[in-house]
Amino acid sequence: MKVTFRIKRFNPETDARPHWEEYEVEAEPVDRVLDGLHYIKWYLDGTLAFRRSCGHGICGSDAMMINGRNRLACKVLLKDLGRKVVVEPLRGFRVIKDLVVDMEPFFAKYRAVMPYLVNNDPAPEKERLQSPEERARYDDTTKCILCAACTTSCPIFWANGQYIGPAAIVAAHRFIFDSRDQAAAARLEILNDRSGVWRCRTVFNCTEACPRGIDVTKAIEDVKRAILLSRF
Ligand code: SF4
Ligand code: F3S
Ligand code: FES
Repeated sequence: MKVTFRIKRFNPETDARPHWEEYEVEAEPVDRVLDGLHYIKWYLDGTLAFRRSCGHGICGSDAMMINGRNRLACKVLLKDLGRKVVVEPLRGFRVIKDLVVDMEPFFAKYRAVMPYLVNNDPAPEKERLQSPEERARYDDTTKCILCAACTTSCPIFWANGQYIGPAAIVAAHRFIFDSRDQAAAARLEILNDRSGVWRCRTVFNCTEACPRGIDVTKAIEDVKRAILLSRF
């Protein structure tokens, strides 16, 4: 089938502002948007820039806005989109070129919540054990692939780039509720900041956008409740 790709292009070296370009792609219904982008880059216009790595929904590098929704290009089949596919970069980040955005501010917020296990006790001889129930408390948020689809679909983030955003809160949740970790209070203090969890207005765009099916809004609510119950 023939599919028209309408792509928002921007090259800061030559363009004053973004513009749209259209490409006709010969595709199979079961091809993905990523296959279409590869076709364009390899056969029609080698200057098109986009990120991808794994091609299978694991690395999180090809999040972009597809027909108005944040999706992973490698996980969306063309047959589910019809004959016209509109592709734009993630909203709220500086565009480096075409569909490639500057992720550094996003990762700075991720690093700010200490996304690693903190435990200052002497290392045990074997594993630090935890029960299945303790493990279940943070299972959902272990699935995050840091694609940024959630943060860049949040209207609060669009209005105020200082907001730490749902992805960083998900990363913090994964450790705050880990029974082996000892830095929950420090993370809760960081998220209690004026740019932290209280900026969230429970819009749910983040949960809708997450390609891993994480209940992002629930994770944020878990953290808000933990702050209210804690005495750090
Ligand atoms: Fe992506 Fe979901 Fe992680 Fe947000 S929570 S960064 S949408 S995987
Ligand atoms: Fe934004 Fe998600 Fe909260 S969309 S307002 S972070 S529920
Ligand atoms: Fe890795 Fe799509 S290319 S998630």
